[in-house]
Amino acid sequence: MTGAAGAPHRLDPAGGCPHADNARLLARGAVAPVVLPGGVDGMAVLGHEALKEFLAHPRVVKNARHFTALREGRIAPGWPLATFATVRGMTTADGDDHRRLRSLVSKAFTGRRVEELRPRVEELTAGLLDDLERAARDGGGVADLRAHFALPLPMGVICELLGVDAEFRDRLHHLSNQVVATDIGPERALAANRELLAVLGAVVEARTARPGDDLTSALIAARDEGGDRLSHEELIGTLVLMIIAGHETTLNLITNAVRALCGHRDQLARVLRGEASWSDAVEETLRWDAPVSYFPFRYPVGDLPLGGTVIPAGTPVLAGYSAAGRDRAAHGPDADLFDVSRPAEPGAARHLSLGHGAHYCLGAPLARMESAIALERLFTRFPGLDLAVPEAGLARGASFVGNSVQELPVRL
Ligand code: HEM
Ligand code: HEM
Repeated sequence: MTGAAGAPHRLDPAGGCPHADNARLLARGAVAPVVLPGGVDGMAVLGHEALKEFLAHPRVVKNARHFTALREGRIAPGWPLATFATVRGMTTADGDDHRRLRSLVSKAFTGRRVEELRPRVEELTAGLLDDLERAARDGGGVADLRAHFALPLPMGVICELLGVDAEFRDRLHHLSNQVVATDIGPERALAANRELLAVLGAVVEARTARPGDDLTSALIAARDEGGDRLSHEELIGTLVLMIIAGHETTLNLITNAVRALCGHRDQLARVLRGEASWSDAVEETLRWDAPVSYFPFRYPVGDLPLGGTVIPAGTPVLAGYSAAGRDRAAHGPDADLFDVSRPAEPGAARHLSLGHGAHYCLGAPLARMESAIALERLFTRFPGLDLAVPEAGLARGASFVGNSVQELPVRL
């Protein structure tokens, strides 16, 4: 196995900055053997071209039936990554089943609907900037931008999209944080999960009684049309997915973009002068510091030659988005450089950080609009905004699935 020589890389369940390890692994090959938490053998696809091929490969699936070690009972109960493999819904569905689940949401989640949300996103952003300013005043000039801005914005936007009434919002916000928290015990996580389902049940009841022009109402209509279009469990599961998938990801993107722009003031100045757009800053952040670092799992249905090695059938494989974004073979020798005016090759994607192929991020237009507005409003109102502590001193997120820091103290 030429491309993947050397001892398998042990992924740290505590997370940490991925880029140094990624560079070391990429130097060895585009595909690397890894040891997952719990000593489970897996692989990670790190090279841009290899990842692109892998994500769209017809012999690669997401249904955990094909996860050999799980099927053979070799995975311990309570394995920390089990939920990602076994949760039912579009992220673990293939083929027709995936198309059915995804088309119901994508029909209700059109470019038009996203564009219609723009004024509300702008309003939410303005309100949160007031909160941030207040927090900084109360905190002796320093406020945590992640807690006061980058976190409540995506959640507020998802609530708009789903048609969640104001009375449920704070609770939903709290619960979705608990569900993805890694620092609470399994009992509290389970209780949060149960309550999340109950709150979403109440949201569905409210929208059943008073339908609106929102995603939940559209899904209810699909469920009630009968046939095999959408079961009640799938309806609730889809709402959970929208909340979970749209939350930590956008939070990390906004946080990483602010860190990148503060750490590269020349780049920030270029955007403020209009030489590059806020969308350019968003795209370059997606490439340079991918919010989703390693996404679990896909499984080849047969032995799969890829990137100079062979991935055995049934291996749990991670999509290495944070590595692919800095792959020199795809992005050139200056791949490590944050450059908002980096020319995109004609017809080529600048990055794969929103996925590729059938499972390409459903929320991409929303995530892009939302984060461009967030950055524009933030730096237009506070052009001198800067980190209040050195970048190197920031505590990293506690998961290798995500890629960000836990807090972002800033001075406005
Ligand atoms: C910056 C923000 C975001 C990033 C970086 C991001 C990233 C991704 C990635 C990498 C995938 C593919 C995962 C895989 O199978 O390998 C994905 C899928 C998905 N994303 Fe996003 N996402 C973001 C925001 C959102 C938002 C705002 C929503 C919804 C409100 C959303 C909903 C979804 C859904 C439903 C899927 C699953 C699609 C499927 O399995 O067919 N995402 N996202
Ligand atoms: C920033 C990146 C992300 C981080 C740090 C993250 C973290 C987590 C964590 C810790 C859990 C709980 C696992 C458990 O209960 O054992 C979870 C659940 C889940 N995540 Fe993510 N996630 C990320 C991105 C995504 C994306 C892009 C998607 C969609 C494609 C997604 C879909 C899900 C789903 C469906 C669940 C299960 C929810 C349930 O309990 O029903 N996540 N995530």
